[in-house]
Amino acid sequence: MKTVLITGGSSGIGLELSKLFAKDNYNLVIVSKFEEELEAAQTYLHELFPHINIETFQQDLTENNATQNVHRFIHDNNIDVDVLVNNAGFGSYGYINDADIEKESDMIRLNVLCVYQMTRLFLKDMVKKDKGKILNISSITAFQPSPYFATYASTKAFVKNFSQAINYELKSQKSKVRVTVACPTSVKTQFQQAANMGGMKLFDSWMAVSPETVAKDAYVALHSNKDLVVPKKFFQYLNEFTKRLPTSLLMKISDHQLK
Ligand SMILES: NC(=O)c1ccc[n+]([C@@H]2O[C@H](COP(=O)([O-])OP(=O)(O)OC[C@H]3O[C@@H](n4cnc5c(N)ncnc54)[C@H](OP(=O)(O)O)[C@@H]3O)[C@@H](O)[C@H]2O)c1
Repeated sequence: MKTVLITGGSSGIGLELSKLFAKDNYNLVIVSKFEEELEAAQTYLHELFPHINIETFQQDLTENNATQNVHRFIHDNNIDVDVLVNNAGFGSYGYINDADIEKESDMIRLNVLCVYQMTRLFLKDMVKKDKGKILNISSITAFQPSPYFATYASTKAFVKNFSQAINYELKSQKSKVRVTVACPTSVKTQFQQAANMGGMKLFDSWMAVSPETVAKDAYVALHSNKDLVVPKKFFQYLNEFTKRLPTSLLMKISDHQLK
C-alpha cells in the first residue's frame, strides 16, 4: 500500500484530498496544528475507510524545527512517503499597514518556508528511489500582484514558481519524480475566517469552487503528472486569457473582486 503525507489534511481542501487518497487505498499521515481537529478527522476518515492506516502528527508548522520534527516522525516510524501534499496554509486580507506583522510573518513561515523545507527534506529521498510525487497547493492569486492580499498572494507566487521550476529540473535530470501545483480560485472553507474575509461575497460568487472539486481536479492532475492545474475547467480557460492582460488592469480587477 502507498502512503501520502498531507499537511493540513484535517479540514477544507486537505480533508477532501485525504478522502480521495484513502479511497484509492493510500495510508494517510496527516499533520495539523490542533489535536482536536486531527482526532476528529481521524475518527471521521476511519469510519469511511476502515481498511487503511491513518497516522496523525500534531505540529504547528510555523514553529522552528517543525519540518524537521515531521521528517523525524516519518523516519522513526519507518514510513515510506510516496506522495507529499503541501496543503497547510492561511491568508491575511487587508491594507498592508493594518495587517499584523506577527500574523503575516507566521503566514510566510507556513506558506513559504514550510513548503520549501518539506519539499527539500522529502524530495531527496524520492529522487534517490526515483519514485514519488509532490502536490503543492498555491492559489489563483499567484498569477499577479493582489492589492489588499499583497503578502498572501506573494507567498502563493513563490509556491507556484518554486513548484514549476523544480518540476522542470526533475524532468531535465530524467527523474521520474514529479511536482504538481494547484491554483484554486475562492473556496468556502475555514480559510475565509482565518484570512479576515468573513463577510466577503467572493466565496459565494461565480468565482467560488467547492473544496471537493479542488481536491478532485488536483488529484487527477497529480496522477496525470501535470505541471499545474487551475481547478474547474472554466477557471483554467479563464486564467489562460486573464494572465495575458496588463498587470495594472489585473490589479484593478482583483481589488474589485476582493471587495
Ligand atoms: N479557501 C480558499 O479560498 C483557498 C483558495 C486558494 C488556495 N487556498 C489554499 O488551500 C490550502 C488549504 O486551505 P483551506 O481553504 O482548505 O483552509 P482550511 O480549511 O483553513 O485548512 C487549512 C489547514 O491547514 C492547517 N494549518 C493551518 N495553520 C497551520 C499551522 N500553523 N500548522 C499546521 N497546520 C496548519 C489547518 O489545521 P488546523 O485546523 O489544525 O489549524 C487546516 O487543516 C491553503 O494553502 C490555502 O492557502 C485556499
